[in-house]
Amino acid sequence: MDNFAGGTAAPETEPVAVEPEVPTRLLPVAELHLHIEGTLQPELIFALAERNGIALPYSGLEELRARYEFTDLQSFLDLYYANMAVLQTEQDFADMTRAYLERAAAAGVRHAEIMMDPQAHISRGIPLDTCVNGVASVLATSEEDYGISTMLIAAFLRDLSEESALEVLDGLLAMNAPIGAIGLDSAEVGNPPSKFERLYAKAREAGLRLTAHAGEEGPASYIIEALDILGVERIDHGIRCMDDPDLVERLVDARIPLTVCPLSNVRLRAVDTLADHPLPAMLAAGLNVSVNSDDPAYFGGYVDDNFTQLEAAFELSDFDKARLAANSIHSSFASEERKAELLDELNSGEVTH
Ligand code: HPA
Ligand code: ZN
Repeated sequence: MDNFAGGTAAPETEPVAVEPEVPTRLLPVAELHLHIEGTLQPELIFALAERNGIALPYSGLEELRARYEFTDLQSFLDLYYANMAVLQTEQDFADMTRAYLERAAAAGVRHAEIMMDPQAHISRGIPLDTCVNGVASVLATSEEDYGISTMLIAAFLRDLSEESALEVLDGLLAMNAPIGAIGLDSAEVGNPPSKFERLYAKAREAGLRLTAHAGEEGPASYIIEALDILGVERIDHGIRCMDDPDLVERLVDARIPLTVCPLSNVRLRAVDTLADHPLPAMLAAGLNVSVNSDDPAYFGGYVDDNFTQLEAAFELSDFDKARLAANSIHSSFASEERKAELLDELNSGEVTH
């Protein structure tokens, strides 16, 4: 008060510039390409190793993190499968799933279709029902607990035989596992979709939805095989479609969803840098693309991080971001009612992702 009365003395404190409180709103998205085992953060790997008395081949977090330098898909898969050793009990699978849902909710994810790799656990001596029930027990209440509706996708390892995949699918059907779809992942080159024709026919007969990784490291022709021989509704990754203009035209005309994972593509060197990523060209071509995190603990980020880094690399407009979010919702296997709810949520507010 003295300052104002006297008019000459310096103010005792600097005026504080008050930033207007703009409420930020996360863009509601569906995450359609996510491997639950790829959400195992280094801290959780060490915590589970300790709980289960497993000796890890790394002295600590730093040494583990130093291994997250990948040269291609296989170099990542080697570490990804090795780290699964810490997943032993239903509780371990449940804890991993809860950690993902908590982080995904903070990223704006409102619906998640979550792949798991049962064969990667069975081959280590973990019973099928341990891994399935551990994840499924958490997904059962994900909407109440995290605001995220979910679907479990059983993904099959394409570098193993079709017989192995069929045996596991039989096991899943026999235990009435709460899966809604099947997928195809692991080492792509040399393991074309055509290898799994009978698996997909059987899954379709069982009423499951169908998706497959294709065109990540493998050629555009694998995308064509996945569509024509497996009859998939959705393609995971699919970036190599850009090598084949006729295929792009077909994918655009049929509105085939491509679940693109930009940070994954950079970390596995499918593209040199994020600035070289084909996402803007894919959007411009009219492809039905969405943004997903793939294996967020390994590739440097969740869906929100993918959006943030895309924004830094490209001039993505609010319109583009809203389109990517709308594509993710439309491309999901959620009920029409849930899709309408999420689209309403998306259309009702300002985009600030
Ligand atoms: N590609 C293929 N297989 C995988 C991936 C991937 O990005 N992540 C986990 N399994
Ligand atoms: Zn993937």
